[in-house]
Amino acid sequence: MKGKAGRSIAAISDVRAAVSRFCDEQLSRRLDTHPVAEVHQKVSACVQAVDPTMTPYIFGSTAVLGIHEQGSDVDFVCLSPTDVQDGKGADAVSEVAKGLQSDFLFRLSEAVKREHYLWGIELVRRTRVPVLRVKGGLGVDGVSFDVTANRRNGVRNSALLRAYFTQCPEARWLSMLVKQWSKKTGLNASVDGGCITSYGWNIMVVYYLLRRRLVTLVPVESCDVADISPMPPYMPLETPQQGGQGLADMLMDFVSYYLDEFTPETEVMSLTRAAGETTKEMLSWTKQAEDMARIRGEKIHYRWCIEDPYEYDLNVGRNVTPFKLMLLRKHLERAQETALLLLA
Ligand code: CTP
Ligand code: MG
Repeated sequence: MKGKAGRSIAAISDVRAAVSRFCDEQLSRRLDTHPVAEVHQKVSACVQAVDPTMTPYIFGSTAVLGIHEQGSDVDFVCLSPTDVQDGKGADAVSEVAKGLQSDFLFRLSEAVKREHYLWGIELVRRTRVPVLRVKGGLGVDGVSFDVTANRRNGVRNSALLRAYFTQCPEARWLSMLVKQWSKKTGLNASVDGGCITSYGWNIMVVYYLLRRRLVTLVPVESCDVADISPMPPYMPLETPQQGGQGLADMLMDFVSYYLDEFTPETEVMSLTRAAGETTKEMLSWTKQAEDMARIRGEKIHYRWCIEDPYEYDLNVGRNVTPFKLMLLRKHLERAQETALLLLA
């Protein structure tokens, strides 16, 4: 079958069969959050030993999707009572704040080493956000996780994504399909040479759903850490309706939206204003800004613009260079032929 611009498109019956296979395979796996709850307990014990006033919160995919995908890492942030009480406050970005976060994470790393001498530990201070990376041991301890400190934005943006994904039964499935595809193609930042994080792909999924009016806008201010549980409740996945037919149609529509309708030259994917209203010009994300801007020496690109809902002036798609944008388009074209490689 041929679509717009004469490109070949996978037959929808094949896409439906492939999507249904993907869902069956996921549903046959263990997706409950028990392994995460166990790690949460162990991390809590170490945090308690370092500073009993701090509480580890779980965010990232466990919070966003309400499940634990085997092999996925777990994201923790340790928050103080003040961080939690002021649950809508902006995160500090100063070097002093980063220094204090690093100090806490260093002390935590020492406590983790004492308790779990088989775990691999690395403290990374030079990133935008200081992070303690831990590779768990065998068995239940096999879960790897990242710990950050005093930053509420991850907890808030995960709750925001979750509030969207619970509005529409296909949404979580779409997120999982897109994430898996982005990792397989190497477009996901977790893969060497990749450029958009799973977080960025999730914002793209939500932006698409908003554009199609399949979900309604959730005000960003509504996410308050004071109302969010440190351990996000498990949300079992349900078999998609009509054997995944609606999901298959949505998946292909997601691809064609980003290939043929979204206008990267002018438009910004944003969850802050009504979908379609945010332009690069409004945010001054221009060619001139691109030439000037750098974060820790790395160039910022404004070719594929995803506005972070909580961080000021941050393009989540900043690593999409002109070359990577071309690659992204090629992969989207290929996804249209192969139903995101599910047919490959
Ligand atoms: N995050 C963020 N800003 C970024 C990247 C990530 O705030 N630029 C936060 C988000 O809260 C996100 C969490 O870090 O939910 C984890 O990011 P990521 O690992 O990209 O997403 P996951 O949904 O955890 O996906 P994966 O299964 O690939 O780990
Ligand atoms: Mg993660």
